[in-house]
Amino acid sequence: MNQPNTSKPKLFSTRLTAVIGLNWGDEGKGKLVDILASKSQFVARFGGGANAGHTIVVKGQKVVLHQLPSGVLHPQTKNVIGNGCVVHLPTLIEEIEELEKIGVNLTDRLFISDRATILFDFHKELDGLSESALGTKKIGTTKRGIGPAYADRVNRRSLRMGDLANLETFAAKLRERLEEVNKVKGLPFKFDIEREITLYQDLAERLEGMICDTSALLQEALTDGKTVLAEGAQGSLLDIEFGTFPFVTSSTTTAGNIFSGLGIPPQNFNSIGVAKAYTTRVGEGPFTTELLNETGEKLREVGAEFGATTGRPRRCGWMDLVATKYSAKLNGTTALNLTKLDVLNDFKEIQVCTKYSLDGEEIETLPATIEELERVEPIFETLPGWQTDTSAVKNISELPENAKAYIKFIEDYLKVPVNWVGVGVEREAMAS
Ligand code: GDP
Ligand code: IMO
Ligand code: MG
Repeated sequence: MNQPNTSKPKLFSTRLTAVIGLNWGDEGKGKLVDILASKSQFVARFGGGANAGHTIVVKGQKVVLHQLPSGVLHPQTKNVIGNGCVVHLPTLIEEIEELEKIGVNLTDRLFISDRATILFDFHKELDGLSESALGTKKIGTTKRGIGPAYADRVNRRSLRMGDLANLETFAAKLRERLEEVNKVKGLPFKFDIEREITLYQDLAERLEGMICDTSALLQEALTDGKTVLAEGAQGSLLDIEFGTFPFVTSSTTTAGNIFSGLGIPPQNFNSIGVAKAYTTRVGEGPFTTELLNETGEKLREVGAEFGATTGRPRRCGWMDLVATKYSAKLNGTTALNLTKLDVLNDFKEIQVCTKYSLDGEEIETLPATIEELERVEPIFETLPGWQTDTSAVKNISELPENAKAYIKFIEDYLKVPVNWVGVGVEREAMAS
């Protein structure tokens, strides 16, 4: 006789932790993820692609990861590239090989979703062309093909990692897509279709054993009580829907995408936000607290603010608490990592934006339209600097009084505790 299944389903616990950038990217997510990865069984990227550049510095050795999750330096940690990502395979293989050269082996600990979108060279070409066509209105993309690859996915034209399991059908699908691209009138390039097919057939061999159902893998891991760290890429203000549209990336960078980008059911999670003690942005678009003066240059110089992916100088400005609170609310942020506090060590005074003025009216959130965003003026409060070296501080309570007051100001405004404070580039340079 059939018995009803009376066994209770295993409940997911809060073993899921997300690390999400609260500004326009490059907040220092990679460093925190690497630190937390030492105690995580899985680190998983849920969105974006090689537009990301996540820096980890260990004993002077710098590693910049673009598509690989930032758990790779811990031999016991498994790394997942989730279905939400767009993957450029030739550069992914290069990244894997670069790590092999420094003794990091990813065998049996890198898993790529069979549902992740494949990003091809033609996507990169299209990205570049679209930027040129926009001229002065360009977005300032990383030219890594992100927009065109996500567009293909939404248009249901893309190939996915799982397609590589059958090279015959893969070749047919790629041929069809490339013939379509080659027929587009006015494009200054034509792809050698057979060459591309052969290239991907070779790459498929290199990926043997890595492509799998990572959704099932992570569901099982969470059910079994394993810890999973969801690594955000880009920042909340670059989110396709909630960012400073249209000057955004093409994916959902905020916490909601953890679930659809990894294929795990919505559940409780620890939401860690990452924000610099000042603000930066690469690419075009509104930046309310930007400093187009010597102070901005000083922040760039002291903070070594040059893009980890494109090398472009980052635009610099004071911390924007209005935008950061907007992001913290979107992500349900419950703990903050304030990074690069050390960069402010020499400043006599520090300003922080606590309100916006829009057409003479004070507001405390981000308007939705680009026209309004461009008209917003920052309203600053000024706090005293600490003019003391903080680089050796390990405990937040040992920071100079004015640094603690700055942190307290941020906590009170955001209503989120600051649990980690970055005081230097090294893995060890993190006060908690
Ligand atoms: P991500 O994209 O959020 O991972 O950040 P990036 O790696 O693109 O940019 C952060 C930059 O700041 C990197 O060069 C890091 O090495 C550096 N960095 C991170 N945290 C700190 C910190 O607390 N102090 C200083 N001085 N540099 C930091
Ligand atoms: P990480 O993960 C900073 C920016 C680009 C551009 C816009 C759109 O290192 O924080 P895209 O190539 O995505 O179509 O470009 O988004 N951008 C980033 N800025 N850090 C990133 O990633 C970024 N990824 C994209 O500069 O303004
Ligand atoms: Mg970066």
